[in-house]
Amino acid sequence: MAHRVNGSDEVGQSPGSGRLAGAGPARRPVPSGVAMALSTSPEPGAALLQPIELRGMTLRNRIVMSAMTRCRTPGGIPNELNALYYRQRASAGIIFAESTAVSPHGIGIINSPGIFTDEQVEGWRRVTDGVHAEGGRIFLQLWHCGQISHPSMLPAGGRPVGPSAIALNGTVRTDFGRVPIGVPHALELDEIPGIIDEYRQAAVRAMRAGFDGVEVHAGNGYLVDQFLRDSTNRRTDRYGGPPQNRMRLLLEITAAVCEIWGADRVGVRLSPTNPSVFGITDSDPEALFVPVVDALDRLRIAFLDVVEGATGNATDQCPFDFGRLRARFGGVYIANNRYTPASGNAAVREGRADMIAFGRPFIANPDLVERCARGLALSAVNWETVYGSGERGYTDYPTSGGSSAARLGS
Ligand SMILES: Cc1cc2nc3c(=O)[nH]c(=O)nc-3n(C[C@H](O)[C@H](O)[C@H](O)COP(=O)(O)O)c2cc1C
Repeated sequence: MAHRVNGSDEVGQSPGSGRLAGAGPARRPVPSGVAMALSTSPEPGAALLQPIELRGMTLRNRIVMSAMTRCRTPGGIPNELNALYYRQRASAGIIFAESTAVSPHGIGIINSPGIFTDEQVEGWRRVTDGVHAEGGRIFLQLWHCGQISHPSMLPAGGRPVGPSAIALNGTVRTDFGRVPIGVPHALELDEIPGIIDEYRQAAVRAMRAGFDGVEVHAGNGYLVDQFLRDSTNRRTDRYGGPPQNRMRLLLEITAAVCEIWGADRVGVRLSPTNPSVFGITDSDPEALFVPVVDALDRLRIAFLDVVEGATGNATDQCPFDFGRLRARFGGVYIANNRYTPASGNAAVREGRADMIAFGRPFIANPDLVERCARGLALSAVNWETVYGSGERGYTDYPTSGGSSAARLGS
């Protein structure tokens, strides 16, 4: 989202703004430089630093590195720089690697990675090996952008697809600059099994690439979310209409991925009240997402990763009882959005979450875990270099000890 941390996650697209790092509903990124300069604070031994069991996998702390698109993967094949970046952050309890296209037709952000070729598997293997060498765990976020794309990013003759032929108000960033998002091709019923199979094949490849598990990206306005919400899904077949139908694609994809990995290594990201920068919303989020979580729980997936509020922006812009989701879900509940080490620690200590996913704090603080442990202040993000600027603003943020984390692995 353009970092927009806004709504969607990823960057790269914005509702008309001309820059890469857009933002949420307010269309402005949170001034993280200010927020993140605050002192962290959890006392040593804090709740966030306690190990946790994820269905037989012991995670050394409850700090998750949230998925973040960084637009530094030209050609879609993860490279040495990507490997260094993730390795530097391997002290997280889990890393969720950035949104990764399950298919060449699922690409919606330039210079973002994929997991649909053998070369990409090899590229990701460098990443997972580096994280494992540091004793870390890394899951891949499986992503299809759906209608938030442009034919220039897709294979010849390809068109962005979505649940319904409804235009969104916004632009995507392409090699030729920003272009408006067009009306998508509404997927025919007989095309949907092919999409599910792309997720299945991506799950197979993620396993070959050495990941520890996968996260299905069902939030932030991308394909699965486009099916979930009634502002984009106007279908009249079994994938449209009541929540039970709109969640069908998510459940079929998740079941397919579980066939490959087993449910113990699969989780789902949801963003129930995130309008995304494109204004993808639902008329009754609680009536939709409570049954969604019940259904995911029946699949016995290992974790839910919930963006609470509008990504990077207000957490209460739309009434929603996130505690209801947590209470109904038997697996690990990961809370995300605007948490600080202190507020995240309190959420875990008070039982509101099992783990906390941090996004922006991990950009400028590769040693976020250590800073949490020692109660050190966090470094500020340089927003000029968040997207696609080589090693600058990516692997050259220093650790609290003053050494350049970039030395790791060199
Ligand atoms: C630069 C950037 C890129 C992001 N890319 C993704 C992404 O690829 N997938 C995703 O689910 N969320 C993405 N997000 C959203 C974050 O995962 C997270 O939900 C958001 O930043 C809120 O958490 P925070 O307040 O801790 O930063 C991105 C956010 C940022 C700042």
